[in-house]
Amino acid sequence: MKLDYIIHELNLNKYLNPVMEIETRNFPDPWPVSAFIEVWMWGYLLWGVFQSDNLIGYLIAAKRNNRYHIANVVIDIPFRRLGAGRGILRKLIQHAKEEKVKRIFLEVRKSNHAAIMLYKSEGFVQSGEKSDYYEDSESALIFSCDLG
Ligand SMILES: CC(C)(COP(=O)(O)OP(=O)(O)OC[C@H]1O[C@@H](n2cnc3c(N)ncnc32)[C@H](O)[C@@H]1OP(=O)(O)O)[C@@H](O)C(=O)NCCC(=O)NCCS
Repeated sequence: MKLDYIIHELNLNKYLNPVMEIETRNFPDPWPVSAFIEVWMWGYLLWGVFQSDNLIGYLIAAKRNNRYHIANVVIDIPFRRLGAGRGILRKLIQHAKEEKVKRIFLEVRKSNHAAIMLYKSEGFVQSGEKSDYYEDSESALIFSCDLG
């Protein structure tokens, strides 16, 4: 099945409720509303994945010291494994290259096989590990992608 979607900036004035629904449905440790408001105020990159006006996923990243840190990325459950996760990650890689950003990195749960497979298949390599990183004490693996 082919998933038709578009990616554009995520306006939290309009989409905060759907964001919170997706966040709580998809993460064992969802961000609170305040975290989304903060990253919005701090000027993070916020992109949504949409089917017409319906939000089905998003990516949030911070640009600092010539690097992008992916702080949050998700595709809602019914729309997974249809290419949208790869699509939004590739869009960030392309955007970062155009901005001459040198590296993209992120933390991922050690048990998050799906996300790890996605990152590896897009050229990310494991560059570190943070033990006890999550509230339930699971470790995070750091994955990064050098853009040259
Ligand atoms: C990780 C996530 C964003 C991937 O989104 P997606 O739209 O389902 O991913 P895609 O369909 O683009 O898949 C791209 C590749 O990722 C890997 N992948 C995705 N889901 C997978 C799964 N369940 N098992 C194994 N590999 C998987 C595969 O390599 C896949 O390529 P393929 O379909 O050609 O084999 C999605 O699973 C998700 O939102 N998970 C919950 C939130 C989360 O874990 N976010 C990441 C935090 S670091």
